[in-house]
Amino acid sequence: MARVEKLECRECGRTYEAAPIYVCDFCFAPLEPVYDYGTIAGRMSRESIKAGPESIWRYVDLLPVDSETPRIDIGAGFTPLLKADRLGKALGIDNLYIKNDTANPTHSFKDRVVSVALTVARQMGFDTVACASTGNLANAVAAHAARAGLRSFVFIPANLEQNKIVTTAIYGGNVIAVDGNYDHVNKLCSEIAQKGEWGFVNVNLRPFYSEGSKTLAFEVTEQLGWQAPDHVVVPVASGSLLTKFRKGLEELHKVGITDAAPHTKVHAAQALGCSPVVTAIKSGVDTIRPVRPDTIAKSLAIGNPADGYYAVSAVNDTGGMGEDVTDEEIVSAIRLLASTEGVFAETAGGVTIGALKKMAESGAFKPGESVVALITGMGLKTAEALTGRVGPNVHISGDLEKFEEEMRLLSAYE
Ligand SMILES: Cc1ncc(COP(=O)(O)O)c(C=O)c1O
Ligand SMILES: [Zn+2]
Repeated sequence: MARVEKLECRECGRTYEAAPIYVCDFCFAPLEPVYDYGTIAGRMSRESIKAGPESIWRYVDLLPVDSETPRIDIGAGFTPLLKADRLGKALGIDNLYIKNDTANPTHSFKDRVVSVALTVARQMGFDTVACASTGNLANAVAAHAARAGLRSFVFIPANLEQNKIVTTAIYGGNVIAVDGNYDHVNKLCSEIAQKGEWGFVNVNLRPFYSEGSKTLAFEVTEQLGWQAPDHVVVPVASGSLLTKFRKGLEELHKVGITDAAPHTKVHAAQALGCSPVVTAIKSGVDTIRPVRPDTIAKSLAIGNPADGYYAVSAVNDTGGMGEDVTDEEIVSAIRLLASTEGVFAETAGGVTIGALKKMAESGAFKPGESVVALITGMGLKTAEALTGRVGPNVHISGDLEKFEEEMRLLSAYE
């Protein structure tokens, strides 16, 4: 049975059959899957979710896949929501949670979107899948394609972190390094996607792919005892995760899973070296001015974000705010998170925590309000951002006397 029969234009409402297309022919706005929420409400309950698998697939009723298609699944989702009291104390937030999406199979939230997108790709008969990536998507597409036995082509900016290249190439697909930044890569991929032969997860399959991000909202709400959080801080690149997090909260209420309409303030976090969305929010405009990215947060380095306008609207509609952070602040925030909560985030996580700190300082969170920070990718992938900044405290020869002397020196400073 098809869960999604139609795609609908976000702007003019024209409908299209569910196919590998992503923009409206008339107004060029993005297309969204249309669900029959009435039928879903009759089928989906807190109990049915609880009885489902411990992965994103427990929320299958709100995902755009046909019921009979075998899922391409390496265990995305069902990641820990950690109460972060030590980090909260450091930042002056008394009810803080970390959603640890580094625990996904390829260590970023992109496993959620790719598991959905490749299931849809197979449903539509593609034998080759592809993507334009800032790194994490490349990992996830290559891994899921390997699992599914699909041919894959991932396109990345040639200057990506070494570990992100290794952790993609290992899965055996084709890795195409392109001279230029992500926006160049994306343009090339849009041109190749026009031919219609490959399923580009974030181009022609984008309406389906992006729906996977809703599972972060579903999970956080379930983990908070079916309560939407008061605040969520979301790292932003294309803006898809942020808009879909909000959509996920709204859908849970629409199908009767949550009692109250969501009141969550959705906040955007970007690096100062690439902050087109946060700049628009701060300047009170809803148009995005593209930028040329220059930041260590390469996974968020999209200068011309496809869903930027919608991300700005989602933040403004919910009463959220936007903050941006310098590369120095990103590194400090990665260290703060690791040293208070034992979670090693990639640079995007440093952006989230750095922005969270600034938001707390500006009085965004009232006492007792629940605040969830999305940690969407893992630190080993961007270890080079820390080169020369963390390492051994002391370096000694292996004899006990030397060690004890160093310890006396160390304790003299404590
Ligand atoms: C680790 C990480 N966090 C967040 C994002 C932002 O995702 P979106 O493009 O949906 O805004 C990305 C995008 O690549 C990412 O890699
Ligand atoms: Zn339209």
